[in-house]
Amino acid sequence: MAESTLSAGILTNIFFQIVQSPLNIALVGIIVFLVYNIFKSRNNNTPVRPPVPELPKLKKRDFTVEELKKYDGTQEDGRVLVAVNGNVYDVTRGKRFYGPGGPYAAFGGRDASRGLATFNVTAAGEGYDDLSDLSTMEMDSVREWESQFKEKYEFVGRLLKPGEQPTNYSDEEDEPPTGTSDKPKDE
Ligand code: HEM
Repeated sequence: MAESTLSAGILTNIFFQIVQSPLNIALVGIIVFLVYNIFKSRNNNTPVRPPVPELPKLKKRDFTVEELKKYDGTQEDGRVLVAVNGNVYDVTRGKRFYGPGGPYAAFGGRDASRGLATFNVTAAGEGYDDLSDLSTMEMDSVREWESQFKEKYEFVGRLLKPGEQPTNYSDEEDEPPTGTSDKPKDE
């Protein structure tokens, strides 16, 4: 009993010594703030991924290389399109890959065919790429990649060669045309 009265007396003493000095009060405030922040960051350490915006389905249309470039995720709506094997896909759902800061951001708004075929995440040139120098194996790889895109993402149209006229899509046409690449298939 006497022990607890003694420790209560010591604590009261410390408390009065602290509140008597504004500097001490400020230090206690800082300590409380820091401890609060440590606990807050501990409870908050699960990374929160910003939700991918749900955008209305894009009306089917073809794109020139220049038109495609706008869709790299930096526009207000954040839509991201990627071309593979002459077909354009809406990859906004995969914005964490192809959007700004993503590991494959170089493909956003670009023709990713060459990069995918050569395992180079930076290989997306400026102008139209006819892929004519790619080997048969590399073109097979482009087609395999495309089938993955086809499964996961929405087809929106074709990538136009320079001077090529855009298709007039009816609402029923949903599938990407096959064999759109310039490269002849060697089978
Ligand atoms: C160190 C090398 C690499 C690692 C560790 C890596 C890792 C990954 C992982 C873990 C995923 C799946 C992510 C998920 O579904 O949540 C992925 C997807 C993908 N990777 Fe890679 N990758 C590498 C190199 C490359 C290269 C060189 C390319 C192409 C040039 C590439 C293209 C892709 C693509 C297109 C996807 C699919 C994204 C989608 O679902 O739309 N990756 N990668």
